[in-house]
Amino acid sequence: MTYEFIAPCYFGTERSAAFDFKHVGATDVTVTDGRVAFRGDEQVLALANIFSRCTERILLLLKRARVKTFDELFDAVTSVPWEDLLPANAEFPVKGSSLSSQLSSVPACQSIVKKAIVERLKRGHHVGVLPEDGELYKVRFSIRKDELELFLDTSGDGLHKRGYRAHATEAPIKETLAATMVDLARVRGDSLMQDPFCGSGTLVIEAAQKALRMAPGLRRHFIAEHYSFVPQQVWQQARTRALDEIDRTASFEGIGFDLDPQAIELAARNARLAGVGDRCRFFAADVRKFAPDKRSIVITKPPYGERLGDLAGAAELEKALGEALAANPVQGLYIITADAEFEQNFGKKAGKRRKLYNGMIPCQLYMYF
Ligand SMILES: C[S@@+](CC[C@H](N)C(=O)[O-])C[C@H]1O[C@@H](n2cnc3c(N)ncnc32)[C@H](O)[C@@H]1O
Repeated sequence: MTYEFIAPCYFGTERSAAFDFKHVGATDVTVTDGRVAFRGDEQVLALANIFSRCTERILLLLKRARVKTFDELFDAVTSVPWEDLLPANAEFPVKGSSLSSQLSSVPACQSIVKKAIVERLKRGHHVGVLPEDGELYKVRFSIRKDELELFLDTSGDGLHKRGYRAHATEAPIKETLAATMVDLARVRGDSLMQDPFCGSGTLVIEAAQKALRMAPGLRRHFIAEHYSFVPQQVWQQARTRALDEIDRTASFEGIGFDLDPQAIELAARNARLAGVGDRCRFFAADVRKFAPDKRSIVITKPPYGERLGDLAGAAELEKALGEALAANPVQGLYIITADAEFEQNFGKKAGKRRKLYNGMIPCQLYMYF
């Protein structure tokens, strides 16, 4: 069976995100602001979840329809063959959103969608009651300008949850954004990557996994693993493929530094959990002593505070980073920050800039080649 999928992602990460879906054999991969759409079968569903580095989740699109009334919404939802997807005892919470639409009350839409699914399931499974005491199926809807999109979530926890960051330091970078930066920095199997403000190690770990072609979802579970229409062997095959693709011969090396010794310990632990502990080293060090090798690609997120005292401190660290890199030129430098004064403090204009979001916070990625 061929399905249509939508993978939401943060603005600016779409092109990096699309690559993973092409890699796993998805077809009709298209990119629009904040999402990647593609087609594929159950195998692609499993592989997309396991291999996607930059998107937030994989949604199975069940219906698109124009809905201006509750009746239209009800009819659109009941037209989906829910009985082919959900067993009679499925638990199926419904979540959604509405924007610039006549059906503006989300709770009201939510209850109509739920009612419509209940009606169709009762009919389809020939039962009078739905106990909802079985496996969890997550239904989502979105209504934008009166256009309904109805989905079944196949990921469960957001895909940024890789399963390696049990603990994080303050202001960690989101894993999916870190993966996008690593992609834009063109980290390869033989790269030497350094992060002078590594915190919990996210950028170093994402770089290592990318270099070793290690799928980010290998160490976690997805909600669709218990969806009855996705055969178990599909997941086994997808995991076997992900394991086979790991390139242990890659010479990649990742080095992280941070002033905070606790962060260093945490980063090393996270790297081990991520399966790249042997490729990543972490040291407690001040950025003022940063002297990267000239072969390095430096990818980092410097501290940036909201309070006034923090701002002055952040500016001083950006200056120190600029001086360290002027004295030790590297192959490529990729810095993400919400600080609009960054280039001034750093002392050099970026070759290229790109707007990216760390969660909801708008940032700029400054790229120096
Ligand atoms: C924005 S956080 C980095 C977060 C990291 N990317 C992660 O995912 O966890 C900035 C880090 O810079 C570190 N830091 C602050 N001052 C420093 C200095 N002078 N030298 C090196 N690291 C410093 C902080 O301890 C903090 O972990």
